[in-house]
Amino acid sequence: MAAQITLKRLCEMKAQGENITCLTAYDASFGRLLADAGVDVILVGDSLGMVIQGHKTTVPVTMEDMVYHSQAVAKGNEVALLMVDMPFMACPTVDLALVNATRLMQEGGAQVVKLEGSGVQLEIVTELARRSIPVCAHLGLQPQSVHKIGGYRVQGREPEAAKAMLDSAKALESAGADLLLLECVPEALAAAITAAVSVPVIGIGAGVHCDGQVLVLHDILGVTAGQVPKFSKNYLAGAESIAEAVANYVAEVRDGSFPDEAHWFS
Ligand code: KIV
Repeated sequence: MAAQITLKRLCEMKAQGENITCLTAYDASFGRLLADAGVDVILVGDSLGMVIQGHKTTVPVTMEDMVYHSQAVAKGNEVALLMVDMPFMACPTVDLALVNATRLMQEGGAQVVKLEGSGVQLEIVTELARRSIPVCAHLGLQPQSVHKIGGYRVQGREPEAAKAMLDSAKALESAGADLLLLECVPEALAAAITAAVSVPVIGIGAGVHCDGQVLVLHDILGVTAGQVPKFSKNYLAGAESIAEAVANYVAEVRDGSFPDEAHWFS
């Protein structure tokens, strides 16, 4: 069996310019299939609210849902680093963030917890990091804020917003974040953030210069209901099996051919 992927390994990959591969999964079968295909990081995303539960947003997803799906993926996966989303309002205070992150690790098997938010999350990231809880901070488009921001759109286009995101990324790294995830961010800004921090940066709709890429599993398998985001790509089209589709995604991320210009924002 391949060696377990660790945060240390992801940092080595960043240092050596090796692209990190990440996909979402929500059950044991796909946890195993993704790990067998060489995916470095499996994200149990709160996107499960949409692709598994059929909600319109991620807002209804609960801690119970995250623990349940994380447990399932953890049973199938023994190799990839397991990252799990803190769902909507799982971090209203430092104390609750600690309780909920602990649940994801102890009950769900998470090795990294991911939380949306920028400046407001600094204290929470600091306290999680102080207690050796690995953290990924999710910047750019934050789907849990969809009702506040009024839709899913590219973030950081205006110079002030771009500067604020760069500043947040640096501050989150200083607070102890182990990874950053950038969603729907112009390619040049994502490249600047990736160069400005020493922790690995995983992008989705954020261009090819991030240290790694993540997509939603259902999008790459062409089974997403409704509109598929511009930055995603159907890897099942042209493949003979799901395993081959995932392997093709892994190969294209590794060799830098995904994403291309058609799958990022300028
Ligand atoms: O929930 C999720 O799947 C995510 C990805 C879109 C990055 O956060």
